This record gives sequence, structure tokens and C-alpha cells, in this order.
Amino acid sequence: MSDHKPDTRTMRTVRFHEYGEPADVLRLETAPVPEPGPGRVRVAVHACGLAPADWALCRGLFAGDLPRGIGCDVAGIVEAVGPGVTDVVPGDRVFGTADYAGQPSAGAADVAVMDHWFAIPEGLDFLQAAALPMALSTAYWHLARLGLDAGRTLLVNGAGTTIGFAAVQIALHRGLRVIATAGDTYAGRLKDLGATVTPYGAGLADRIADLGQTPVDIVFDTAPPNGALPELVRAAGGDPKRVLTCSDLTAAADLGVRDSFHEDPAAFSDEARFGHFPEFAQLAAEGKFTVPVAGTFPLDRWRAALEISESGHARGKLLLLPGLDR
Ligand SMILES: NC(=O)c1ccc[n+]([C@@H]2O[C@H](COP(=O)([O-])OP(=O)(O)OC[C@H]3O[C@@H](n4cnc5c(N)ncnc54)[C@H](OP(=O)(O)O)[C@@H]3O)[C@@H](O)[C@H]2O)c1
Repeated sequence: MSDHKPDTRTMRTVRFHEYGEPADVLRLETAPVPEPGPGRVRVAVHACGLAPADWALCRGLFAGDLPRGIGCDVAGIVEAVGPGVTDVVPGDRVFGTADYAGQPSAGAADVAVMDHWFAIPEGLDFLQAAALPMALSTAYWHLARLGLDAGRTLLVNGAGTTIGFAAVQIALHRGLRVIATAGDTYAGRLKDLGATVTPYGAGLADRIADLGQTPVDIVFDTAPPNGALPELVRAAGGDPKRVLTCSDLTAAADLGVRDSFHEDPAAFSDEARFGHFPEFAQLAAEGKFTVPVAGTFPLDRWRAALEISESGHARGKLLLLPGLDR
């Protein structure tokens, strides 16, 4: 049975009413508290991650009804459950994804409706939990498409992105050998985890060849688009089908490299995107998996998070904490 009750409160939310540059179109405003529909839960948001995907949304990715909210990654406390939800009750601590596609508000708000959620294991705080969903889901899904087979050699380009950092840990955990390109921020941590690390940028195919581990079996490109794909194809022995990018879709089309949006749609199931969440949340609670947090901000300082993210050097997850200024 659902304890769904109409809620007449208002809340603060960061959202946009027209498409454009995020700094121009996003606003913090007051909106009705959303109702959890069938198969949804409503949470009091404790932490919400912002990412390049949010800015792409403002610029027209997945265009739909307006206004719409930003902020996919959420950790919070369940307030109400919609019809059909039986696995959580008000008061439970959960993390997961906001109902992100075309809703008038999403995770960057005092209160959010979630479409996928998991219990936060003991030992994992709201910040660490909120950093997980997009990085974990995106990294795991792409690696599974490439084949997470123990003993293979994987090259992760852009292992200093949240998605790349998660991908390195997932692959090492599944028994692959990992070569990572990264900047100074995470090079040391990636080496400590067990990856072979080399700087990103021009000449990376030669640097990887010098490591004596080419051709690599598979390549996951998570770096902000920067012209690296031809060198990544070289590192994979010239076979573009061994390279999958979640980032540089334009260059992928030119080179025959695989990209997120042209994989088999049947592979985009809830199980493929979220089935591994309990396992990795537990590992995170035990300190064996992490998506680093680079900064936290009150809701009304969303612009600071935007500016850091848009610099291209977020250096970890940027989290809004509505409780800081509620
Ligand atoms: N297709 C999908 O499903 C999907 C989903 C989510 C995100 N994405 C895409 O995946 C990419 C990563 O997203 P994210 O949220 O994890 O990004 P992010 O953490 O915001 O990425 C920022 C990091 O990128 C690193 N970086 C900057 N320039 C680089 C370069 N030329 N080569 C390698 N690394 C570089 C920087 O590391 P240093 O500071 O150390 O230089 C920086 O800290 C984005 O392009 C995003 O749009 C795709």
C-alpha cells in the first residue's frame, strides 16, 4: 500500500524555462513539492551531484517539456512513496537517480522524486553516496559493453573524470589490467589502486606503446572531447570497434568508434544500468570503491559549481547540499 499524500508545500529548485547556456537559463526558484507517481519515491535531498550532463540538458540534450530541473545524482531520506513501491518507507536513507527526463524539477532541489533508488549501506554518508550514481552507472554500463573479462587490458582515457575514476576501479575489481591517462590530480591515487598511469594529451599512443602493453584489448574514452580518439584507435591496434566513447560523439562518427548513443538499445536495461549498485555501494561503505568529491555548495551557490565544472577541471564530484542554506 502507498502512503502517497498530496503535499501543498513549496520548495526551492534549480531549473530552466528555455534552452540555452546554463549560466543564462538556470534559476533558483520556488516550485510546488513534486508528487511521487507510480513506482517513484520522494526524498528530502541531502546531497545532489551536478555534472557536464546537466549543462548539456540546458543546451537541449533530450529536449522535452519545460520547465525542467537539473541534478541526476541524489542521496536523501525518503519522505513519501508512490503507488506500487514496497521496498522503502519514509525515513529510509537512499541514493540513486532523480526522475530526470523532462520533469519540472529534479535533484537540485530541497525535495526530489527519484526513479531508481538503493539503500545507503551503513558506513556510507550522504555525500559519498550522492557521488556514486552517474559515475558508477555510466562507467559500469560502458565497460560491460566492451566486455569486463578478467585478464584483458583496458585503457581508460580520462581517468581523472568521475566516470573514468569509477571505471578504473570497476575494471581492477573485475580482474582486468588497466592503463589510465590522467592529469596530476588523480595520477598518484590511480597508481596506488593498481593502474599504470600516463598523462593525457597529444602523443599518448606513443607513450602507451612505450609501456610495452599495446595493442590494448579495449579502450573506454571518458575524457572531455579533445581530439584523442585517433590515438586511442592506434593504441587498440587500429580497430575502432575496440574503442567506446561516452564523450566525443562527433569524432566517433568520423572514425567508426563506438559511442554511447549507438549501442544496442536492448542493452540499456535497468539491470544493465543499476544491477551492480548494491555491490559497489557496499564496497564504497567498506572504503574499497569511491567517486571523489571535489566540492560542496549550498543550493543558492549552484553558479559556483557550474563555473568549476565548465572549467573542464572539476577534479571530482560537485555536490549541492540544500541543507546548508535551508
Ligand atoms: N554518454 C553518457 O552516458 C555520459 C554520461 C555522463 C557523462 N558523460 C560524459 O563523460 C565525460 C566525463 O564526465 P564527468 O562528469 O565524469 O566529467 P568531470 O569529472 O567533470 O571531468 C572533469 C575532469 O576531466 C579531466 N580532463 C580535462 N581535460 C582532459 C583531457 N583533455 N583529457 C583527459 N582528461 C581531461 C580533468 O582532470 P584533471 O583536472 O586532472 O586535468 C577534470 O578533473 C563528459 O564528457 C560527459 O559529458 C557521458
